[in-house]
Amino acid sequence: MTYNSLLIATSNPGKLTEINYLLKELLINPYQKANLKILSYQDFPPVEEIEESSISYQENAVKKALLSAKRFNLPSLADDSGLEVEALGGKPGVNSRYFGGEISFKEKRELLLKLLSGVPFTDRIARFVCVAVLALPRGELFISRGEVYGCINQEERGETGFGYDPIFYYPQLNHTFGELEDWEKNQISHRAKALEALIPKILPLF
Ligand code: IMP
Repeated sequence: MTYNSLLIATSNPGKLTEINYLLKELLINPYQKANLKILSYQDFPPVEEIEESSISYQENAVKKALLSAKRFNLPSLADDSGLEVEALGGKPGVNSRYFGGEISFKEKRELLLKLLSGVPFTDRIARFVCVAVLALPRGELFISRGEVYGCINQEERGETGFGYDPIFYYPQLNHTFGELEDWEKNQISHRAKALEALIPKILPLF
């Protein structure tokens, strides 16, 4: 079965921008795939947010992708992601979005920096994890995972990206993710790796 649209199942604007960018880079050959439309929730009447109640990235991502595929009768792509800090036993992890409760992202970053105050640089190892899921309306699922390693910086640097990007230092480029251009982050990120692995599953659908 073929389709003409792929739905990105997220209401997080930072993720949506990244996934859109990545798909355009990875997928769209304007000659072959001229008919493929990439849609998001913004293209539909307001959709209530899907609660992320599980303790696993995979379960959350499967739930988001599958519910969207069924509700809109379209192949749907969702991800669940998080930041895991070794010195905090892997926290905030799957709860990254809810870390510290209902506070702004700046406050979440500050809280993390406070919890790590006094921890030397070499013990501030962290990784971003992303599980991406492609779900088809009849229930078929494709799942992939991407990770990127770095350290939690001593202070915020940069204003690009979203979420924890300004405190995630990536040694190979000697910058935080918050200092990278979009195209730079999208070459190395956990999300880029997870999505790239799904491209062979997405292509034949269109
Ligand atoms: P969720 O996948 O909707 O549960 O959200 C994961 C949370 O992890 C986001 O709200 C961000 O706080 C954080 N996160 C995931 N990926 C990234 C990233 O690429 N940069 C910064 N923060 C991220």
